[in-house]
Amino acid sequence: MNIKQVEDYEAMSIAGAQLIMETVKRLENPVLGLATGSTPEGVYKQLIDAYQRQQVSFRETTTFNLDEYVGLAGEDPNSYRYFMDDKFFDHIDINKQQTFVPNGKADDLQQECEQYEQRLKDHQEIDLQVLGIGVNGHIGFNEPGTSFKTRTHVVNLAPSTREANARFFNSMQEVPEQAITMGIATIMKSEKIVLLVSGEKKARALDQLLHGDVTEEFPASILQTHDNVQIIADKAALSKVRV
Ligand code: GLP
Repeated sequence: MNIKQVEDYEAMSIAGAQLIMETVKRLENPVLGLATGSTPEGVYKQLIDAYQRQQVSFRETTTFNLDEYVGLAGEDPNSYRYFMDDKFFDHIDINKQQTFVPNGKADDLQQECEQYEQRLKDHQEIDLQVLGIGVNGHIGFNEPGTSFKTRTHVVNLAPSTREANARFFNSMQEVPEQAITMGIATIMKSEKIVLLVSGEKKARALDQLLHGDVTEEFPASILQTHDNVQIIADKAALSKVRV
């Protein structure tokens, strides 16, 4: 894993956006894996700016999001489909038909997961996957204890994850208990992965990722075994990293 240390959230966002733009410009039909959460928001802002300055076009880009809450429709402001449209897709020239987010309202969730995997295969997998990290080491919604062999699947969210994400909902009761997420094996098939980490609250997780064992108890640790991972972390996130 390659680590790029940057000053702060804004510098992380700029560096992340640059990496995405390089990929989009280099490939004829780029396939991006995208993430939600507070961490990548700044990257999307930078990309929108670059698009408006005509530095990049997403016309030929296909995207696959990591995850979605079960039970929330795309029109629900707390769904990840809504987040992506609102914070990114509605402001660039991407073909919306080429932006995939798991459907959390599918009648048959199992079938939805299988279709998602198939669609990824049809697109020859992801060229660049953007990842954030949960404080418990989750990636996507793969909670501690998830098998490294998993493909896209339905998960029960850990209480700590529901609590961490409750800030977006009116009450804890409204936070969904399940989600669909790309599996760890799905994420690992990506050609390249960029992990964005910002802020002191992620510092322990980052230290464990860099120095801990590779274990299913800390899902992000699998990234140690991928041969093309770029971590972009700010000073606060690196503040607890053992040297
Ligand atoms: C959520 C998402 C993850 C994300 C994580 C961290 O649970 N499913 O993909 O990485 O939260 O979120 P944040 O960037 O807001 O800290």
